[in-house]
Amino acid sequence: MLAALDPAAGPILADAERQGIAFVRRLFEEWQSGSNRFERPGEIIFGAWQGEGLVGLGGLNRDPYTAEEGVGRLRHIYVLGSHRHLGVGTLLVRDLLRHAESHFRTVRLRAASPDSAAFYRRLGFAACDDPAATHLIRVPPIA
Ligand SMILES: CC(C)(COP(=O)(O)OP(=O)(O)OC[C@H]1O[C@@H](n2cnc3c(N)ncnc32)[C@H](O)[C@@H]1OP(=O)(O)O)[C@@H](O)C(=O)NCCC(=O)NCCS
Repeated sequence: MLAALDPAAGPILADAERQGIAFVRRLFEEWQSGSNRFERPGEIIFGAWQGEGLVGLGGLNRDPYTAEEGVGRLRHIYVLGSHRHLGVGTLLVRDLLRHAESHFRTVRLRAASPDSAAFYRRLGFAACDDPAATHLIRVPPIA
């Protein structure tokens, strides 16, 4: 799946580097080294496209920071600076959570900044007190 995003990822990589956000490059390095290819049970990576252009991406891993079963982890959610506040990030997270419903009971993440923490709270995530995560949500979400 990431192989499909790779040729289109140039603008996203450049945008993230300009903003000093390292995790997009790490995502592709880890895919190339084979250390994280989002291919274990329940894992997936999604891209958001506008025509031929990749404008956002985000992944779901089994959470590597816990031995507990049924815990997923959102990874590397990134939307091009020029395409933020249009709902792209919300679509990515909603699709990832929908996918998670069949595989995990809880999805956690570590918010990269206070801004992204506000974004996840708005999507229904609760803050959590864990060294490995800042937010979590039960899937399917409790209304
Ligand atoms: C966080 C991020 C993925 C949000 O993507 P997005 O496409 O802009 O999100 P949406 O348009 O769906 O945002 C929905 C709402 O989330 C909140 N939100 C999003 N970005 C926000 C920000 N920078 N500050 C405060 N609230 C924000 C707002 O309530 C926003 O509604 P609004 O657009 O009406 O203001 C995007 O800003 C991003 O890629 N940031 C850099 C990388 C990053 O921090 N990723 C998260 C890693 S944990």
